[in-house]
Order: sequence, then C-alpha cells, then structure tokens
Amino acid sequence: MLVALLILNKQNIPQVGLDQYCFASKPAGRSVTSVKINCMPHSRASKKPEGQPTRGKTASNRLRRVDNFILLYEPSLLTRTDDLFADSIFIDLGYGFDARTTLESAARFRRMKPNLKILGVEIDKDRVEAALPFADDKTFFRLGGFNLPMKENEHVHLIQAFNVLRQYEEKDFAPAYERLAQYVLPGGLMIEGTSNPFGSIWCANVARKTLESDSSLSKIGDWRFEALIFSTNFRLGFDVEEFQTILPKNLIHHVIKGEPIYDFFEAWKRSAKETASMKAYGAKQWFVASAESLAQKRYRINLHRKFLSKGYMIWEND
Ligand SMILES: C[S@@+](CC[C@H](N)C(=O)[O-])C[C@H]1O[C@@H](n2cnc3c(N)ncnc32)[C@H](O)[C@@H]1O
Repeated sequence: MLVALLILNKQNIPQVGLDQYCFASKPAGRSVTSVKINCMPHSRASKKPEGQPTRGKTASNRLRRVDNFILLYEPSLLTRTDDLFADSIFIDLGYGFDARTTLESAARFRRMKPNLKILGVEIDKDRVEAALPFADDKTFFRLGGFNLPMKENEHVHLIQAFNVLRQYEEKDFAPAYERLAQYVLPGGLMIEGTSNPFGSIWCANVARKTLESDSSLSKIGDWRFEALIFSTNFRLGFDVEEFQTILPKNLIHHVIKGEPIYDFFEAWKRSAKETASMKAYGAKQWFVASAESLAQKRYRINLHRKFLSKGYMIWEND
C-alpha cells in the first residue's frame, strides 16, 4: 500500500516524501484487458512483444516539456561517457501512430549530445513500418513491448514512456516496470506518465534503476521511485484538480480518503486557497506560491526556481 513516509531532514523537520512503494497492492481501474507479463531474466525473455497495442494518438510537441524537463533535471544522463553509458540508448516506448515524438526528442537531445542513439519502440507492427523511413544510423524503430527489443551489447540509460500505461489495468503496472528495469543501466532513469492531448499538462513518475545488490530500498524491479513530477505550461491557468485527472496509473485510482495521494492533493488545494491572492500576478506566480506553501506543510517539494518558474513541481522521495 502506498504509505507516505515521515522523513527527518537535516534540520530535524519531519517532511512528507513520496513513498518508495509508489504503487498500490489493490488493483483498480478500467482500460485494456489485463496483460500477462512474464518476468524472466532479460536473456531468457521471449521475443513476443509483451503488452498490447492501444490507441496510438499523439501530437506534435506533445512531449516537448518532458524532454525539456529531462534536460533540466539531469542533463548529465545524456552526456555520461563512463563505461557502458558512453554508447547507451534512449528509448521512446510506445511512440504512437507515427514517429514524431521520437524524432522530436532526438532533435532536442542531440543539441546536447549530437551522436545520441535513440530507439522508438512500438507494439503495433503498422506503426513500426510507418516509422522506418525515418530511421538512420543513430535513430532506430523496432517492434517490441515491455520486453524491449534490444540487441546484444545495447544498453539503455533513459526510457520515456508517455500515455502508454494509462491504457492498461493497474495490476499491469508493477510487472511492466519490473520487465523494463532489466534493460536499464544502474543509475539510469525512466520517466513514465500521462499528459493531456497536447502535453500542456502532465504528471509522471521518475524512477531510477538501482544496483541489484542494494536491498535496503523498497522498490519495484530495481526501480527506486525518485520523484513525482507535476508539469504545466499554464495555458490552462492553474487548477490543482487538473493534475488529479492525469496521474500515472499507479496513483490515479487512489485519490480517495485514507490514501496518501488524497492527502497530498487536499494539502495542495489548501495551499492554493491560502495563496490565492497571488492569482493577481498570474497563474505561474500562484503555482510557485502554492508549491512553497505545500513545502511548509512538510511535503518534500523541490523549491528550486529553475523548476518551479518553468512550471515543474517535483515531489521528491527522500
Ligand atoms: C496513446 S499512444 C502514445 C504516443 C506517444 N507516446 C505520446 O505520448 O503522444 C500509446 C502507444 O503505446 C503503444 N503501446 C502500448 N503498449 C505498449 C507496449 N507494451 N510496448 C510498446 N508500445 C506499446 C500503443 O500501441 C500506442 O501506439
């Protein structure tokens, strides 16, 4: 069960961090029929793509703010040259009916690392065929599922999976994460979440692949849940409730009394109310003030201006 932790920070002020068990034991929800995900070790994984095709809707620049967030949050992930990171691959999982999000991410990330390798993975054969004309010597498109279609000696440093798991059942969440963890280098990241149709608002889990030997952490398949990100470009103004509708699959069915994510939203709504006078200065100022007020309520919110002023609120784990 998702349980918020009370964590003592350096000043001994208890803070509410995002719990490491960022998924619920009781599955709930609608969506596609549950999918059998067989958790064999990477080398023995079946070649049959795990998962099932879902609606392929996407839009130009839908994931622009996701890419920009990564570039702000951990640019070094793209440029690391140590060991296997040097030649490792970025994965756009479930890119949709055409290759645009993969190609757009490629263009953005290659401003920082021109020779970055990118692999778009789709479980729908026709969508892979539609993307293949855009492949080149560092941009690949392959048929695959949660068991990623990696070749020998290919390693992954980052997975972006947007608007993919939202169409599954909640009980598919943990097995999908477990499977994906098998391909990512320790220290690598996954950003997995849900956006509205144009990407102006989204919410995502940031999970970090840990060392398998680190048994001190509670986690799913060697992922440690590092943060929950709330992103907005303010086109819709600022309304805390909008974020509830686009929570990742592990949380969206849990905004109910007694659950930590419910308490979190209640506290954020109270903060928004208390800071409503900032509305006069615009949605962005109000959003920033509400985040600061939430931090005063002991939620572990990252208050760096470089995030908040760009519309990214980060609720951190310890
Ligand atoms: C709604 S589209 C999202 C497109 C794009 N990521 C975006 O956010 O605009 C979801 C895509 O994920 C694909 N998909 C679903 N499950 C998958 C899996 N297990 N592996 C790879 N692709 C998957 C679907 O076929 C669909 O094309």
